Amino acid sequence: MRRKLVVGNWKMYGSVAGNDSLLKALGAGVGQGADVAVCVPFPYLYQAQALLSGSAVAWGAQDVSAQGQGAFTGEVSVAMLADFACSYVLIGHSERRTLHAEDDALVVAKVKAALAGGVCPVICVGETLAERDAGQTAAVVVRQLDAVLRGCGVEALDKAVLAYEPVWAIGTGRTASPEQAQEVHALLRGRVATADAEVAAKLRILYGGSVKAANAQALFAQPDIDGGLVGGASLVADEFLAIIAAV
Ligand code: 13P
Repeated sequence: MRRKLVVGNWKMYGSVAGNDSLLKALGAGVGQGADVAVCVPFPYLYQAQALLSGSAVAWGAQDVSAQGQGAFTGEVSVAMLADFACSYVLIGHSERRTLHAEDDALVVAKVKAALAGGVCPVICVGETLAERDAGQTAAVVVRQLDAVLRGCGVEALDKAVLAYEPVWAIGTGRTASPEQAQEVHALLRGRVATADAEVAAKLRILYGGSVKAANAQALFAQPDIDGGLVGGASLVADEFLAIIAAV
């Protein structure tokens, strides 16, 4: 009942010339088998919109301000994302949490801003290697999820996507096994179900962390894995298309 979703996160990669061929290849190569989106750096939103409009590929951003507008140098508002017809925005990616000191409270504020502006938040949670080794995986991801449930209400998840990205699997080539990922996805869905079973059943939970064409099928076959959030492999058209085909 849940349609699979594959989201590419370009991170801070790209150039006008390079994006041109990648976006055109995706626009031409993606069919209707799954929902697909790319989250590009802000300066390339216009290019994504221009080249993907009318295709089966949606686009979005990698962050958004919690503020509506004003004197916030360097920030980008949800209204600006909506101006470029963004469908999705990543919120609380581990690189934002770690490198830019984003805490659960800021994640909640950004989720509220995205929803108010009509852009679907892709809310990222995940534990570090030290936390996993200390047996704290469940406690960490539940804390991150509970902040959103408490701060935004379970109904927010009706219009959002959740992404489980173990930090130790991001950009390391070390993927969580399908069973390891499934265990956390089931935990997250169960946690949402304690607040609202219907929302939990509909909620798409993506796995992220070294997803490649070679491991996508086994991951996506798990009952609670509803697609992927793909970093490095989303920058190579053939590889990203092969991941989408694995759906
Ligand atoms: P990689 O796929 O490069 O490991 O990145 C995952 C990620 O952080 C996607 O948001």
